[in-house]
Amino acid sequence: MTPLLEIDHVTVRFGRPSLLDRALRRDVSPLVAVDDVSLTVPAGGAVGIVGESGSGKSTLMRAVLGLHAPDAGEIRFRGAVLTPRRDLATRRAMQMVFQDPGTTLNPAHTVGATLAELLHVHRVVPAAQVDRRVGELLDLVHLSSSLRDARPARLSGGQKQRVAIARALALEPELIVADEATSALDVVVQASVLDLLAELRSTTEVTLVCISHDLDLVRYLCDSAVVMRRGRVVEEGPVGSLLASPADPYTAELIAAAPTLRAQELG
Ligand SMILES: Nc1ncnc2c1ncn2[C@@H]1O[C@H](COP(=O)(O)OP(=O)(O)O)[C@@H](O)[C@H]1O
Ligand SMILES: [Mg+2]
Repeated sequence: MTPLLEIDHVTVRFGRPSLLDRALRRDVSPLVAVDDVSLTVPAGGAVGIVGESGSGKSTLMRAVLGLHAPDAGEIRFRGAVLTPRRDLATRRAMQMVFQDPGTTLNPAHTVGATLAELLHVHRVVPAAQVDRRVGELLDLVHLSSSLRDARPARLSGGQKQRVAIARALALEPELIVADEATSALDVVVQASVLDLLAELRSTTEVTLVCISHDLDLVRYLCDSAVVMRRGRVVEEGPVGSLLASPADPYTAELIAAAPTLRAQELG
């Protein structure tokens, strides 16, 4: 079976020398944010990308979403090569949920209006069914229907993140990329949003890529993981064996730095 997503020797650089730099023979060495990374995500699977801050995790997945053009390599979705210019259906098929839901929601729009607008613009359902679909989406992410008329300022961090997840789900994507989606939330709320993502894995057919520096989250939610460092994949494998017996010293370091994993080992 063709995997949903194939990342094939992808490199992304920042700060390429400009024409002026070149004319003046100025030495501008570009930063290689993603360095020859290959990664496969099976349909219906959940893959974690872990690594310390700055290791290129977000840049890699932003390239998949078409927000950065790779400098080398190829990205394939259902076997078809993705280019930065892509049609609406392809853009709909991949949605990202970011760390800070506060900044991605329009403060002027109610929760219901935000979701309804998306459904309208993308013609996900006929106009007559938009209302009902908004209700279903709120149910799906366990938000009370009383919040339908609320604006973001009235919502807690966890509720905003549920709206962000509902917004992603509204477009019926095949792939959701959660980029540190729970990192800004306090521990209890984090757990409830994690539970929601885990539930969506079983109630929908959505494929998940979770970017996180939190190995616990990846263990809870993902089947397999890749460990990135300085733009490169240093290790990958099924989550269980990766965490139980890391082959790379950097993975071992990450595990040693994860409080609850270490606590289990000690106690
Ligand atoms: N738009 C950008 N312009 C220039 N450098 C960037 C940009 N985005 C990310 N970087 C750099 O690329 C590297 C990888 O960043 P990022 O992908 O955000 O890492 P991570 O998500 O693992 O924390 C970092 O050194 C970061 O500073
Ligand atoms: Mg990041």
